[in-house]
Amino acid sequence: MAFELPSFAKINWTLRVLGKRQDGFHELCTVFQTVSLCDTLAFEEVDELELTCDDPRISTDESNLIVKAVRALQDAIPSVRGRGARIQLTKRIPSPGGLGGGSSNAAVALIGLCRLWEVDRPDELPEIAASLGSDVPYFLVGGTALGTGRGDKIEPLPDVGADNLLIVTPDVAISTGSIFGSTGLPILTEDELVRKLTVCRNEAPGFSLRRSELKNDLEGAVAARFPEVERVKAALVELGASVAAMSGSGASVFAVFDKQETRQAVIKALGGESTWRVFAVSTISRAVYREALGL
Ligand code: C5P
Repeated sequence: MAFELPSFAKINWTLRVLGKRQDGFHELCTVFQTVSLCDTLAFEEVDELELTCDDPRISTDESNLIVKAVRALQDAIPSVRGRGARIQLTKRIPSPGGLGGGSSNAAVALIGLCRLWEVDRPDELPEIAASLGSDVPYFLVGGTALGTGRGDKIEPLPDVGADNLLIVTPDVAISTGSIFGSTGLPILTEDELVRKLTVCRNEAPGFSLRRSELKNDLEGAVAARFPEVERVKAALVELGASVAAMSGSGASVFAVFDKQETRQAVIKALGGESTWRVFAVSTISRAVYREALGL
């Protein structure tokens, strides 16, 4: 058996950091969105595990989240222990970039391997995904979704659609852990957590690009250390974006445009920024996401 699956990127329409937790992670309230920018994972059954990637900057050893996903799945399902797979990763999503590329690859590996090895997806797939990284469970769901906890507790939301998005990734490698660490937030009390989560849960289902403010609480910490990210956002707003915000812990910034013509003119205007990667994308609804991944 051999087949290919897309591994879509995400943006965060909003990302609120509610505070620090006892375990050192941060409690989040974020609205995730799948976008059309994607990597591709090609699967083929062979005797051993083989991971290859067209981008030499991506390591394909045990540190790769795809390899970790294989191991975690084999730990959870005894009948697939010892099975092999050739996985060829074609990389387009900047990494790192705040677009969930590695997390998406891990989730798609879990989905693809269940299909390759002809086993039912286990009920504990969300927990296996969460053990690989905070963003991984979201990519089992896709579309517009609310993430709470570490960002790993996912609830689908009504799809938000936008056709004329731009994602701009400056050449800055940001470590998610160090950005969360530099927010310097105190540990949340149980009362604060309940109060802040209640507000967030009440607001999330009504999220709308027209009415809601796009707010990423990590933007300040990133801007302080990487002014280039601020410069990207300012350029996009200046050039006519209706809204723009950083995605995840950066460095990518996304912008929404009213018209395709405006977006096209902005792509042209950014041509002089040779170190910025520019992607014209649109949102991917949950139905399209599920169909593309055979869910
Ligand atoms: O879960 P993930 O591997 O993506 O997280 C990378 C790092 O980012 C964690 O080790 C942690 O330092 C930080 N983080 C956090 N709070 C979150 C998610 C990540 O502090 N909700």
